[in-house]
Amino acid sequence: MLIEGVPVIKAGIIGATGYAGYELVKILTRHQEVSIQFAASRSHAGQNMSEQFPGGPDVPLIKPEVAPLDQVDVVFLCLPHGAAANTAASALEAGARVIDLSADFRLKDAVSYKEWYGLEHPAPWLLPEAVYGLTEVSRDMLPEARLVANPGCYPTSILLALQPVMAACSADAGPIIADSKSGVSGAGRSPRLHTHFVEVADNLSPYNVGQSHRHLPEIEQGLTLWMRNPPSVIFSPHLLPVPRGLLSTIYVPIAEGWSEDALRSRYDESYRSEQFVHVLDPGSQATLAHVNFSNNCYIGLTLAEGILIITSAIDNLVKGAAGQAVQNMNVMFGRPESTGLIP
Ligand SMILES: NC(=O)c1ccc[n+]([C@@H]2O[C@H](COP(=O)([O-])OP(=O)(O)OC[C@H]3O[C@@H](n4cnc5c(N)ncnc54)[C@H](OP(=O)(O)O)[C@@H]3O)[C@@H](O)[C@H]2O)c1
Repeated sequence: MLIEGVPVIKAGIIGATGYAGYELVKILTRHQEVSIQFAASRSHAGQNMSEQFPGGPDVPLIKPEVAPLDQVDVVFLCLPHGAAANTAASALEAGARVIDLSADFRLKDAVSYKEWYGLEHPAPWLLPEAVYGLTEVSRDMLPEARLVANPGCYPTSILLALQPVMAACSADAGPIIADSKSGVSGAGRSPRLHTHFVEVADNLSPYNVGQSHRHLPEIEQGLTLWMRNPPSVIFSPHLLPVPRGLLSTIYVPIAEGWSEDALRSRYDESYRSEQFVHVLDPGSQATLAHVNFSNNCYIGLTLAEGILIITSAIDNLVKGAAGQAVQNMNVMFGRPESTGLIP
């Protein structure tokens, strides 16, 4: 099928009724060059998305087992880690390309996956070919990719913030410290005690502080793209009493001789031509209001006592999940990168 001479991308979504899946269906519904062939959910098959989400898109839900994987160009997996890898293998075998929003293909090392996620990797033979889909960094590899590992939300905010500064980072002046706060949708739609309204409202809770959150090895792996022996990372996430949005404040020890202007030039060089990454003027800091409901990342920079303090904000469900997945799809299929995405 062609729309104005451009072939339509036939897409399927599995895990469509989770928060990331719902956001993805909304974006794909308004994407002029995509036709949703199926949206699958175990618990709500037979219903329509609009029954699950008031005002949501008019898309019927089918069972994942009957999803016609061989009739689509791309399958998006919006499933929990561990549940995505086998479906990815089946979709690839059926001839579809895969964008996995879970953590199943983000870590290159199956041993590290087992250590952090507590299970044997279900499809380790696919790890070498998976492209880590931080679009601004991996753009050149996406057109050939069959399998894309969409980054985690915290790593997206942190790696985009760190990429330009790694050349100026002092490797022996102590760790990089990332203090991050995320809205509650980051924990998914299944109700749990710690995401219960009464526990979250009027509260701010740190969790997995230090070096124990599963996104840490993903951040560390990302840093090795830019520095052979990067400093260690201390990463302290917090649960914010808002539905969506994520802000990381990151402290980076800087090598001698760098001024704030010189550091700022590195960010300008890296992101001047990017549509979704915006570096704020001196004195301005990134906030959730800059980014929510958009695919943008806003970055603020301040140098104090040899430490670069970076504030980096994204919408965890858009740039941190479904939006970046669509950005990756656009590049994979040779479409303008921002198609379907609110800039
Ligand atoms: N939320 C975020 O901000 C965010 C950001 C970046 C990445 N991610 C990642 O994206 C994935 C989805 O996240 P989410 O927040 O949308 O989670 P969620 O709201 O909990 O949704 C997960 C979906 O997967 C389905 N599912 C659950 N367990 C399953 C299983 N064992 N086998 C097959 N299907 C299962 C569920 O629907 P049915 O049971 O109806 O099929 C549910 O709709 C996760 O891997 C998450 O880590 C999330």
